Amino acid sequence: MCGIVGAVAQRKISGILIEGLRRLEYRGYDSAGLAVISPDNSLHCIRTVGKVQVLDDAEELSPASGTVGIAHTRWATHGKPEERNSHPQLSGKNIAIVHNGIIENFQELKDEQLAKGYVFTSDTDTEVIAHLIHEQWQADGKDFFSTVRKVIARLEGAYGLAVINTDTPDRIVVARSGSPIVIGVGIGENFIASDPSALGQVTDRFIYLEEGDVAEVSRDSIRIYNGKEKVSRKPVRLHLDNDEVLKGNYRHYMQKEIFEQPEVIRNTLSGRISKSHVLEKSFGIKAQEILDKVKHVQIVACGTSNHAGLVARYWIEGVAGLPCTVEIASEYRYRKVLVPENCLFITISQSGETADTLAALRYAKELGYCGYMTVCNVANSSLVRESDFSIMTFAGREIGVASTKAFTTQLAVFAVLSIALAKRNGLSAEDEKKYVDDLNQLPLIIEQTLALDDAIRELSHDFGEKHHALFLGRGAQYPVAKEGALKLKEISYIHAEAYPAGELKHGPLALVDADMPVIAVAPNDELLEKLKSNLQEVSARGGQLYVFADTQAGFQNNAGLKVINVPHSSEFLDPVVYTIPLQLLSYHVAVLRGTDVDRPRNLAKSLTVE
Ligand code: G6P
Repeated sequence: MCGIVGAVAQRKISGILIEGLRRLEYRGYDSAGLAVISPDNSLHCIRTVGKVQVLDDAEELSPASGTVGIAHTRWATHGKPEERNSHPQLSGKNIAIVHNGIIENFQELKDEQLAKGYVFTSDTDTEVIAHLIHEQWQADGKDFFSTVRKVIARLEGAYGLAVINTDTPDRIVVARSGSPIVIGVGIGENFIASDPSALGQVTDRFIYLEEGDVAEVSRDSIRIYNGKEKVSRKPVRLHLDNDEVLKGNYRHYMQKEIFEQPEVIRNTLSGRISKSHVLEKSFGIKAQEILDKVKHVQIVACGTSNHAGLVARYWIEGVAGLPCTVEIASEYRYRKVLVPENCLFITISQSGETADTLAALRYAKELGYCGYMTVCNVANSSLVRESDFSIMTFAGREIGVASTKAFTTQLAVFAVLSIALAKRNGLSAEDEKKYVDDLNQLPLIIEQTLALDDAIRELSHDFGEKHHALFLGRGAQYPVAKEGALKLKEISYIHAEAYPAGELKHGPLALVDADMPVIAVAPNDELLEKLKSNLQEVSARGGQLYVFADTQAGFQNNAGLKVINVPHSSEFLDPVVYTIPLQLLSYHVAVLRGTDVDRPRNLAKSLTVE
């Protein structure tokens, strides 16, 4: 989603704003802009289409010298990525606003403003807020903070916003409703952003605004209101490791993140398993109380996180023996849902801010589950704060828009959780040890699997000119195939679909010919022989097969079939291991096709709008 940065300081702030936007670029990158209050109290506004670098270049030609300002990097919702639709949006000569989210009643408000003579220069929903604030300020003209609060009361929808006014040039007013805003606390200067990572270069103290908060931020004071009530929010210290965001020797963040997986999976498992069992205390007391009651699990998530949930279902039912349902958050939130007794509601999210997942959690709370848990990669995120307990994935910051290490660490958490739940359902100490042994081996097996990199790069040449691909898997490998297809779509723009291999004959087989590569995930599990028969159906129709197979699965290379041997693992953890070669394949195909691997077109890392 879009990113917001702002600063109120004594020093020139344009560099801070642009660096902040660069750090947020993974959230949106259609266009960017900034508005700074110049020393002569006029607005210095620059907006450009394209990446933050374009804005940086433009600012070099027309330097902004003020000490108070706001900036934005955009992922278009209302209106195409054009200069006039970029933020900040302005009203009159004095008001500038940046906004994340969607104002649902914008048309009604716009009609009202049009009738009053306001001229709209953009297609955005944001511009209407600028004009409303402008109008209200003309009427009030005293306390800008209260002006903004009055206007905000009229907005419906989700937003995080920041606004400045040249008549009150020493402050920024920010508001949060459905889209996150943090205040970065400095010494004699303060900052605001949609994500603390934007401000790692200037502070390590952050105040997270709560839903409904509106704050006035000046150099040496911060006032926060929630509705009519003045509230105080404690700052927290975050250690944002700047080195983490450097690419090092890797060509892309995605590549770096793929290769970090052995380490981050080790970090995620560390302290949660011993040599022989799961260390349940690491989940916290609250978690244990809730898990003791659980008879059913409902998982809700979006995108890659949803695929992690689909794998988890095989473990929660197969290992723990508990019924488990998995649903896409944007569907769940609008459906009449029947809640089974003692059902645990679990959200999965890399960012912890995905609007649909958050809305699903809030809806679930209205329905009444026996507990609310999240598997998340960002401490202090909205999902973490609004759940009863969380099990964090220690993936470190993930920058590549296509999720890789966040996914496999989510799987690591669910592997541990399913063993913990299985113990409550009579899992023997001996069987627990077997699963835990497998988990302890996992980082090493992933390291060995990453050694397939060269072979997969070679293979990627077969896909350079393709327009479509089919991914097949059976059992817990079906969601892995789905994730493989999603990765290929996201970053190489090749149309890819995943099917459970047994479903091929019910339709997709009609698509198979020499131009349709078919990628199959074939560990040596109990469905292997079934899968082999399904693959025969492809060979018989002249399809080109690429099979990622266990060394013991008995596949032989031939004209229509290329085998890539994947290190032997356990049936339990095969879904994690087989994810790796599919990530590498999509990465190399994308590099070959010259796409923007870390920032694929039209996508955003964290979707804080519906
Ligand atoms: C976006 C991202 C995906 C991600 C999904 C869910 O679509 O591009 O990579 O899987 O959101 O995000 P979350 O942060 O909730 O895991």
